Amino acid sequence: MGMNSRILLLSIVVVVFGMLPFSYGRTDPSFRVKAVNLGGWLVTEGWIKPSLFDGIPNKDLLDGTALQFKSVTTGKYLCAESGGGSIIVANRTSASGWETFRLWRINERTFNFRVFNKQFVGLGSNGKGINAVAVSSTTGASERFEIVRKSDDLSRVRIKAPNGLFLQAKTEELVTADYAGNSGWGDNNPSVFVITNAGKLEGEFQVTNGYGPEKAPQVMKEHWNTFIVEDDFKFISANGLNAVRIPVGWWIASDPTPPKPYVAGSLKALDNAFLWAKKYGVKVIIDLHAAPGSQNGWEHSSSRDGSQEWGKTDKNIQQTVAVIDFLTARYTKNPSLYAVELINEPLAPGASLKSITKYYKAGYEAVRKRSPKAYVVMSNRLGQSNATELFPLASGLTGSVIDVHYYNLFWSGFDNLTVQQNIDYININRTSELNHVTTSNGPLTFVGEWVAEWQVNGATKEEYQRFAKAQLNVYGRATFGWAYWTLRNVRNHWSLEWMIKNGYIKL
Ligand SMILES: *[C@@H]1O[C@H](CO)[C@@H](O)[C@H](O)[C@H]1NC(C)=O
Ligand SMILES: *[C@@H]1O[C@H](CO)[C@@H](O)[C@H](O)[C@H]1NC(C)=O
Ligand SMILES: *[C@@H]1O[C@H](CO)[C@@H](O)[C@H](O)[C@H]1NC(C)=O
Ligand SMILES: *[C@@H]1O[C@H](CO)[C@@H](O)[C@H](O)[C@H]1NC(C)=O
Repeated sequence: MGMNSRILLLSIVVVVFGMLPFSYGRTDPSFRVKAVNLGGWLVTEGWIKPSLFDGIPNKDLLDGTALQFKSVTTGKYLCAESGGGSIIVANRTSASGWETFRLWRINERTFNFRVFNKQFVGLGSNGKGINAVAVSSTTGASERFEIVRKSDDLSRVRIKAPNGLFLQAKTEELVTADYAGNSGWGDNNPSVFVITNAGKLEGEFQVTNGYGPEKAPQVMKEHWNTFIVEDDFKFISANGLNAVRIPVGWWIASDPTPPKPYVAGSLKALDNAFLWAKKYGVKVIIDLHAAPGSQNGWEHSSSRDGSQEWGKTDKNIQQTVAVIDFLTARYTKNPSLYAVELINEPLAPGASLKSITKYYKAGYEAVRKRSPKAYVVMSNRLGQSNATELFPLASGLTGSVIDVHYYNLFWSGFDNLTVQQNIDYININRTSELNHVTTSNGPLTFVGEWVAEWQVNGATKEEYQRFAKAQLNVYGRATFGWAYWTLRNVRNHWSLEWMIKNGYIKL
């Protein structure tokens, strides 16, 4: 999960379908998963390890970066009129959706600009004119722009169009690619714009495309080989944990030749995880965190520019099922394979109930065909409130588990809660939510993501300990188990390793 992506989300409900409840797939019905997520390892999330991006030139101009351009001469923002499908103007006094341009990075200087309605900026008359328009739904030579930055003030830019001339705000209503005048950076130059960065993504697409095909393979290999190592599995098994939930991306299934910009090697890393898991007796929950097209538009599902395209076609669904089939087949003989999560956090309404239901049926069958034992994990849709909407489907399958992601974050209702109110929320509200999805003949329940972090400022260690303990107590009643987010993170409370080593959490 990612920080930016979780705004407005009170809780995230993920449905996990498993084996026959309580009896099949595990010999001891009282067994509970006490897991930790290996977040930010095989699916990049910049906030977990910001230094991974340090070597990227122009690292503030990655895929999906949302830029707004204010003309220094009109004092107004560039805008795709009507949000796209029309001309570019420079007459807006404030900037929001139509005034925001999402980058597609070609190299560190060259980009496509994607507008609100998803067209790309180009030049009129099929690229032969000089008027800036946003009409093309594909990118080609006439949609490539170079961003030239002022060396001592990176927020001042000029934009070189495919015809070799600079874009200028000729008037408020006319933006053309025909500026050949002075190259100064003053407020009298109609080709100078001041950029505002209104949002960014730092996922796997961004890091690999940011480094590019020459450097990315080496950088990612180094990250995969060092971020999680064998000793981590030793640590996990020695500290009261019995499982890991490992987020993976869809491109892992075509390793060693994943589609660009992804690079080879995450499959080898996952192979290693399974070897270490076996050696230290740790169970593995494979979690398809990034599905083709992105199931939620966030960086942790490797969206390129915030778009969410997963599930819109049968072909896309079949491609996702093939990833599940591949992963289950590869690890079914490893005794550590415990569960396969079909998809993480699909977001409604983009991910429709119809498409997710169709996918879950096919994904479930794909796992079952390969493995009679592995639990099959399915996410409820975010952005809709019915936590039991998948129960009709779940009860038709062999056993099921509901996975609810519980964070006391990402929702304004938590803004001003005290320490005790946060703890009460766990004891009362989360208990009630968990009870709601826990039924005697229904799916098992799994709190697949939680963290001892909140919106309380300056809390003491003892207060964090109480908060963590309350959560362990309540989530310990989930019939499948729980998984902390995450093992390692530059933010201490989000690192279970740090929390354990520093005595905040004891299992
Ligand atoms: C900006 O210019 C376009 C094109 O002339 C016009 O249709 C639109 O109404 C103008 N918007 C504002 C806010 O002035
Ligand atoms: C949620 O979905 C389930 C399954 O379709 C249904 O039985 C239940 O009535 C729904 N709950 C609400 C509040 O709509
Ligand atoms: C939290 O407190 C601040 C400061 O008192 C207030 O402005 C804000 O509206 C409160 N937020 C909520 C969600 O109650
Ligand atoms: C938490 O539960 C209590 C008791 O049922 C209820 O009064 C309160 O509104 C709930 N809080 C939220 C934020 O839903």
